[in-house]
Amino acid sequence: MSHTAEVRPTTLAGLLREGISILSASGIRNAEHEAVWIMDFALGASRLTLRLEGQRQVTAEDRSRAIELFGRRAAREPLQFILGTQEFCGLEFEVGPAALIPRPETELLVEEVLRHCVSGSHPMIADIGTGSGCVAVALAHSLPSASLYATDLSPAALDLARSNAARHAVEHRVVFLTGDLFEPLRGRGLEGRLAAVVSNPPYIADGEGAGLPPEVGSFEPKLALAGGVDGLALHRRLLDEAPEFLTPGGLLALEVGLGQADRLRRMALVGGGYDWIRTTPDAAGIERVVCFLKKG
Ligand SMILES: C[S@@+](CC[C@H](N)C(=O)[O-])C[C@H]1O[C@@H](n2cnc3c(N)ncnc32)[C@H](O)[C@@H]1O
Repeated sequence: MSHTAEVRPTTLAGLLREGISILSASGIRNAEHEAVWIMDFALGASRLTLRLEGQRQVTAEDRSRAIELFGRRAAREPLQFILGTQEFCGLEFEVGPAALIPRPETELLVEEVLRHCVSGSHPMIADIGTGSGCVAVALAHSLPSASLYATDLSPAALDLARSNAARHAVEHRVVFLTGDLFEPLRGRGLEGRLAAVVSNPPYIADGEGAGLPPEVGSFEPKLALAGGVDGLALHRRLLDEAPEFLTPGGLLALEVGLGQADRLRRMALVGGGYDWIRTTPDAAGIERVVCFLKKG
């Protein structure tokens, strides 16, 4: 369905109604809220303005701008890509098609590292598969004495992450490196020195992609989603490779998908290199973050 703007006069209230109807017709559940956010972004018309000045005329130019955005959302582009930002750990992050949109459940990863790393102790921390940089930047922001290493296979994601680090003035404490998992950390003298390794690796199992909402499956990068046959391909490699870089007693905190936490815990215990300390559920009750300490 295309939503081209015919040039006909309307009011703010009329345009809002049009937006709600475009979004509802394409199955957006929060159509009213989302239409208000889009109106605010496109025209600077807040919810209060819409309520108090609903009868104000809208120019043809403003109308076509809003209609274009309603159309993008109706095609199921994530609202965050349209608005350009997402809040994470109380900070605003730039988002875009190069990286996963930060999710609220991933804040648990940050909380686990903050529980483990005492501020003032100059911890060195690696965020593997940093995407938008949300985890690394939030950690650098909360731990002013920490140094962060953030890796990703995607140079475009790292550009976004660098921009987010600059946005929150932590770019001098986060080293962004392109490459496969820990590979770019080699040759930097980091072996055995990291207080924590944190990662939200891709964890959608092969064959599960078809069940994803269109916002995720059609717009977020495949590299951020595809986790191999059982969804745990990268977790397996992280379990194998992290001990080389962690201090004894260092934290490995990994995010997982629905039903994966126990399998990950068993894999780690069979390997023998870790003590499991905790699995933390998210707000929906899904076991979401699994934490281990390196033995020794
Ligand atoms: C699920 S996203 C997480 C992004 C971000 N940390 C977050 O929590 O929003 C996974 C990220 O891992 C990256 N990635 C996938 N395979 C990788 C690999 N082998 N080495 C490094 N990064 C990888 C993807 O490009 C993506 O940015």
